[in-house]
Amino acid sequence: AATTRYEAEAATITQGVAESNHAGYSGTGFVNYDNVAGSSVQWSVTAAAAGSATLTIRFSNGTTTNRPMDIAVNGTTVAAASAFNGTGNWDTWQSKTITAALNAGTNTIRATATTANGGPNVDWLEV
Ligand code: GCU
Ligand code: CA
Repeated sequence: AATTRYEAEAATITQGVAESNHAGYSGTGFVNYDNVAGSSVQWSVTAAAAGSATLTIRFSNGTTTNRPMDIAVNGTTVAAASAFNGTGNWDTWQSKTITAALNAGTNTIRATATTANGGPNVDWLEV
């Protein structure tokens, strides 16, 4: 099925900021998570039908340390401390895929940093 891209900089950002000072992002930038546990981005996504969906998050991590995040759908964590490992530098983006059940209609998908390092930089979510 076709996917829809939801830019991080257009989502609800808690303890983070939309920036554009690294190359290779789509849209107008990416989200730089504050380097604290609990920083998050929440998207509102629409599913045509209920059922299993592939969630793809594009991120960069210019460190050599994992920046894990909890992925929650409609308030329930579906992937705890999911790994977002180093990508080499902040201009190099990788995609991370998670499978989760969505409701028909509107769903919230939230990616929350679980360590004091905060999240990676996040470009977009595709569903
Ligand atoms: C650098 C980088 C940011 C990144 C930050 C971090 O400051 O420019 O884009 O978010 O490191 O370590 O989280
Ligand atoms: Ca950061």
